[in-house]
Amino acid sequence: MHKVLDEYSKMRNFYLYFIVMKIGILKEQKAGEKRVAIVPSTISALTKKGYEFFIESNAGLESNYSDDNYKNAGAKIVDKKEIFNCELICKVNSPSDEEVSSLNAGTLLISLLQTIKEVDCVKKLKEKKVSAFSLNLLPRTTLAQKMDVLSSQANIAGYKAVLIGANHIGKYMPLLMTAAGTISPSRTLVIGAGVAGLQAIATAKRLGAQVEAFDVRPEVKEQVESLGAKFVEVESDSNDGVGSGGYASETSDDYKAKQQELMRERVGKSDIVITTALIPNRPAPMLIPKSMVESMAPGSVIMDLASENGGNCELTKVDEIVSHNGVLIDGNSNLPSTMAFHSSQLFSKNIEAIIDHCHTEQGFKLDKEDEIIDGMLFIEKGEVRHEPTREAF
Ligand code: NAI
Repeated sequence: MHKVLDEYSKMRNFYLYFIVMKIGILKEQKAGEKRVAIVPSTISALTKKGYEFFIESNAGLESNYSDDNYKNAGAKIVDKKEIFNCELICKVNSPSDEEVSSLNAGTLLISLLQTIKEVDCVKKLKEKKVSAFSLNLLPRTTLAQKMDVLSSQANIAGYKAVLIGANHIGKYMPLLMTAAGTISPSRTLVIGAGVAGLQAIATAKRLGAQVEAFDVRPEVKEQVESLGAKFVEVESDSNDGVGSGGYASETSDDYKAKQQELMRERVGKSDIVITTALIPNRPAPMLIPKSMVESMAPGSVIMDLASENGGNCELTKVDEIVSHNGVLIDGNSNLPSTMAFHSSQLFSKNIEAIIDHCHTEQGFKLDKEDEIIDGMLFIEKGEVRHEPTREAF
């Protein structure tokens, strides 16, 4: 690796410094992806700290950041092959096979690669002896909040799910009193009141809908109510479903049965159901079976945000809109891409915070004793460090 001060690495194999760091930005290749990993404002901020940026032409075009915007911020527009000479490469999605084959040993790659699901990609990174951060592995701590891409993007997904859901139903969202009569507000049910769910609640409330929400973690009741929504509760004495670090865990069979009964009643009365239930490292819990969909009125809609992990509804098909007895089940797995300007801006701010976190007076430092770096650095110069990923091999 060029320009690397390796004193510490030799001594303790803990630190790796890059004195001058070249950062490369590739145009996303995944079908339908409009986001870009870094926007011009991040380039302006980080060039002041000595970083140099190299970007593939039109990388930001689909999110409305032009090559000129990048040039004005101090980036160089270069041939794609030149980007692979950079010490750090930033991407939204995991790299394509062609991109992995162009990576140099020792390069650090930052992306949303899902290390357990995309084992083949990890194997190829291993062969190329690269190092990589997975943004999916960032610990959800207070310090890491500003680096949390999952949260910034889930927030957008929650917002956009309501807008798309409202667009699907042939109804008003708010209560309306008109000369032609009174229209009652539509009913929105949000299942899973985490980052996406809370934003969905807030957005549906702003549009005037009647909103209810459900979550296995009773501690979110207060947050749901503070947004003006009703919290639907399953009676349970234990801490069923409460995991660690603000996440959920698997619930007991008894809890599941009670939840199903309650959901059947609420789902059947809803115009829009937004499902966001997630348990880390597990397939999405299946909460809405086909029979429950059949209890909904024609014209109603389920926005299943968990589609990529199998979906919270039995009928969900990833990236498709399925119609069943007149009920639409929308499995769009990339809602942030439909708001690419702001999702790229927030994504870029998160990456900027990660680079800032690694920045020292001596240059960019990978300190494996740091909880955040240790969490995200799943592979280092071809050595897979993340235990669950190693097990998935
Ligand atoms: P989060 O972890 O903040 O929230 C998930 C919530 O689901 C938690 O509050 C958890 O307690 C709850 N939950 C878990 N099991 C449940 C159950 N059985 N019943 C009710 N609630 C349950 O996750 P976040 O960041 O809000 O993401 C939510 C989902 O949205 C994830 O599946 C994520 O992959 C997905 N997502 C989808 C996008 C899209 O474009 N479709 C974009 C971004 C995220």
